[in-house]
Amino acid sequence: MSEYSVEFRGLTKKFGDAVILNNLNFGIHKGKITTILGFSGAGKTTLMKHILGLVEPTEGEVIVLDTVIGSLTELELREFRRNFGMVFQYAALFDFLTSFENVAFPLREFTKMKEDEIKAKVMSLLESVGIAPEAASRLPSELSGGMRKRVGLARGLALDPHIMLYDEPTSGLDPITTHVVYDLMRDTHRKNEYRGFTSIIISHDIHATLKYSDYIVFMEKGRVVEHLDVENFKKSENPVIRRFLEL
Ligand SMILES: Nc1ncnc2c1ncn2[C@@H]1O[C@H](COP(=O)(O)OP(=O)(O)OP(=O)(O)O)[C@@H](O)[C@H]1O
Ligand SMILES: [Mg+2]
Repeated sequence: MSEYSVEFRGLTKKFGDAVILNNLNFGIHKGKITTILGFSGAGKTTLMKHILGLVEPTEGEVIVLDTVIGSLTELELREFRRNFGMVFQYAALFDFLTSFENVAFPLREFTKMKEDEIKAKVMSLLESVGIAPEAASRLPSELSGGMRKRVGLARGLALDPHIMLYDEPTSGLDPITTHVVYDLMRDTHRKNEYRGFTSIIISHDIHATLKYSDYIVFMEKGRVVEHLDVENFKKSENPVIRRFLEL
């Protein structure tokens, strides 16, 4: 078994003539929280889409949990995606479903669990992210932004994923709620750490990143400028990173 949950080998992605990811070679440590940092347009979301097999490499390969993503058929890929939990900035909750039904959705879709099992699982997931039982019957429009993120996280955790992917999970939230959401991501990580759970966060928020990550990957223009543990990242002499740290 690899020490990495995700490995990029010679990964290059072009859209037309534009090189969006440029020969990436690195691994994301299993059991750790890794944040992918970088300015807008650096290629962060595109990188994440490769992990999920939503985008095919132009060159190179992506290996997730010792499986070469490009070798899977569509059907296998669909099944493989159960390894992931996702909290995306814009992939909001289903507006027309209650908190309960939002979290129950992947269980109904992907498992043969019985109704009473689903109920127990959903209520325990909601509890684990700090949503009170009485909020289970509310629609997303009846929840605060922070509560919606919690329900989104509970939904992402429903299938007991090995890897959680967060694409700017705190954008649009106030600074206090941002820290609440980061605390929640870290607590979730710690609770699942024993089973090699890996958290990958895309962020612009340098302060939260330094506080909550184990490793940081800094991307610029489709390349990895630096990939270090937090302590060494803080000491990086790279001028681009110094500039980012001083923001
Ligand atoms: N499907 C696509 N077709 C063409 N160009 C694309 C496509 N997807 C992304 N790009 C381009 O790739 C570059 C990187 O985009 P990406 O969304 O990965 O950046 P990002 O680092 O996530 O930025 P942000 O912080 O703004 O979310 C951008 O220039 C974008 O326009
Ligand atoms: Mg993005």
